[in-house]
Amino acid sequence: MKTKSLVSIDDLSTDEITKILKLAGDFEKNPVQDLLPGKVVATLFFEPSTRTRLSFESAVNKLGGRIIGFTDSSTSSVTKGETLYDTIRMVSSYADLIVMRHPIEGSARYASEVSVVPIINAGDGANQHPTQTLLDLYSIQKTQGTLDNLNICMVGDLKYGRTVHSLLMAMSRWNTTFNFVAPDELRMPDEYKLYLNNLGLRYHETSDLSEVITTADIVYMTRVQKERFSDPMEYEKVKNAYVLHKSMLSDSKPGMKILHPLPRVNEINTDVDNTNNAYYFTQALNGVYTRQAIICTLLGIK
Ligand code: CP
Repeated sequence: MKTKSLVSIDDLSTDEITKILKLAGDFEKNPVQDLLPGKVVATLFFEPSTRTRLSFESAVNKLGGRIIGFTDSSTSSVTKGETLYDTIRMVSSYADLIVMRHPIEGSARYASEVSVVPIINAGDGANQHPTQTLLDLYSIQKTQGTLDNLNICMVGDLKYGRTVHSLLMAMSRWNTTFNFVAPDELRMPDEYKLYLNNLGLRYHETSDLSEVITTADIVYMTRVQKERFSDPMEYEKVKNAYVLHKSMLSDSKPGMKILHPLPRVNEINTDVDNTNNAYYFTQALNGVYTRQAIICTLLGIK
């Protein structure tokens, strides 16, 4: 029987998402539980990561499982020319679950088609980052008390940012109003706007953050993804397009929270960190509970 993988947020029904968020809440209350004895989780990171890899590994450790894998594919047989097909076939005979980050869009879907164990997409190029989305949803629900009828302002690199692509698809289920704030070069790709159009959902595009920040329940900041630019001069032109300062938050809605998948470079000044609006470090912590819930769900562990 084919196992269930998590490649795109659309692999999950709304009911499944709701159950994962509920389970994440249970893990937040009681994070150390011996639910994965004898289970091995492989983390294959073909691209750098701090939060995703370490929060997955923390999640597995807290659940009593074991971790194998690599943090740098240059230490694996990929450097000898081994294909992704062979790598996944091999690792899926060593592990019960594979968490994979890869620079090529579609690589996670391909891996899920050749693996005999579930694949969790930990980010495939500029495409999707569904576990980030689940921890974002958890953070939004926790801070706003609901996912329904919110106003989300997505800021920065909306072209290459896989986190905003996944989050847009997820939040479209809860009647969200979207504001997209980006320089012309980094606007939300047409395919995602078409996705919203087909659902009859509202979005507004601007390059002026001050125009929309006061309407937001969530301001979702993103880093300009230097590694996705083929021309370094193009990156230089837009790298500091938006820098959020404390002084810009004075007219924000009560309860507005600032999220960021992190890492940040310049886009949130440190004077924001101690405001009531800043939530990004807690958001990253929520990744542990959410990933505990995702692992248990995919492995069928009650
Ligand atoms: N949010 C996120 O994916 O962070 P890392 O790149 O550090 O894993």
